[in-house]
Amino acid sequence: MIKMTRAATVGAAAAGLMAFLVPNVMASAPGHEHPAAPAPGGGPHSKPAPSAQTLRALAQQAGIRIGTAVNADALAAEAPYAAKVGAEFNSVTPENAMKWDAVEPTRGTYNYTQADQLVAYAKAHGQLVRGHTLVWHNQLPSWVTSGDFSAAELRDILHQHITAEVTHFKGKIWQWDVVNEAFNEDGTLRDSIWLQKLGPGYIADAFRWAHQADPKAVLFYNDYNDDGINAKSTAIYDLVAKLRKEGVPVQGVGIQGHLDVQYPAPHDIADNLARFDKLGVQTAITEADVRITLPADNTEVEAQNEAYQTLLEGCLLTRNCTDFTVWGFTDKYSWVPGTFSGEGQANIYDENYQPKTAYTAISQDLRLAGR
Ligand code: G3I
Repeated sequence: MIKMTRAATVGAAAAGLMAFLVPNVMASAPGHEHPAAPAPGGGPHSKPAPSAQTLRALAQQAGIRIGTAVNADALAAEAPYAAKVGAEFNSVTPENAMKWDAVEPTRGTYNYTQADQLVAYAKAHGQLVRGHTLVWHNQLPSWVTSGDFSAAELRDILHQHITAEVTHFKGKIWQWDVVNEAFNEDGTLRDSIWLQKLGPGYIADAFRWAHQADPKAVLFYNDYNDDGINAKSTAIYDLVAKLRKEGVPVQGVGIQGHLDVQYPAPHDIADNLARFDKLGVQTAITEADVRITLPADNTEVEAQNEAYQTLLEGCLLTRNCTDFTVWGFTDKYSWVPGTFSGEGQANIYDENYQPKTAYTAISQDLRLAGR
């Protein structure tokens, strides 16, 4: 019922949404609960504006979850960081704590300390957990990459890793990113250790093994640069369609949403998500951030707001898009500057935990969708 309301409302509002929102966002965020600067005309006796709602409250009214990737060190060490995670979001994704190198650094020895802490935090704060990630070419411990295993041994290692980790968290994970970034931009499969040694069948195997370990978790394929309709997203679509025909339990597709304002925002994202909807799988925006070449000017900030809205509106317009997750919420802990030299400010809060206009852009879209 909530979804029907969301779909109908967003559908009706969609035409005017972009035109309406962007100027409003740029006019700053009066009445926001954590304004970066005092609202114009605001004084000690001014009434709080009706817009002072958290993202999670607005997302609930809009019928989706709003999530953030969580830096486990910051969660443990910094009270303002933890407070924002709890107050603003109703789903969380461990940024690194469930990856192979963190969980099984040596063969057969598992360390779930940080991941368990996040799962407990999420439970205490009424949040769902997106598990991230079981099969990836990156952040593999050296014992996996340098082990010189036979195909049969490596397949067994993968099977055991998936079974152990999914079993450990059984009943506590909402959605698992089972396979991450398996495709190249041209739609061919990435030449990872998994493809090289196990062949393309590793993908179906991973979903089957994860499903056996936790039949209730929703199992996702997750990738980047697949926001719009292109060779990569079409290859993902074709693979998911084929796997589902074969009875492989792939139940969701994650669109990471790592954008850069120097490229056009993916305005065909709703069309892309619609075709996955028709396949009968859930979708989610799983890692949204929008980087800027520094120093950022007003036009770039405006483009950033629009890019966040493009991703979110794509989700809001899609019946079975369940979640909009940002890849970290504060510029203080972003992967971007370490990877893209000279770029940054990709998140919705600044380094001092002050909400940016991108925060307001997201709030306004959620508020419109929830009406
Ligand atoms: O764990 C080591 C630690 O022992 C060491 O002291 C420290 C020194 O730099 O490095 C730590 O590892 C870092 C790790 O994050 C944990 O903090 C790695 O150097 C660093 O490269 C790694 O970066 C992560 C990156 O994935 C790795 O590919 C980012 O935090 C994380 O945000 C990023 O997330 C990925 C998603 O999982 C998949 N999609 C793309 C996204 C962005 O790259």
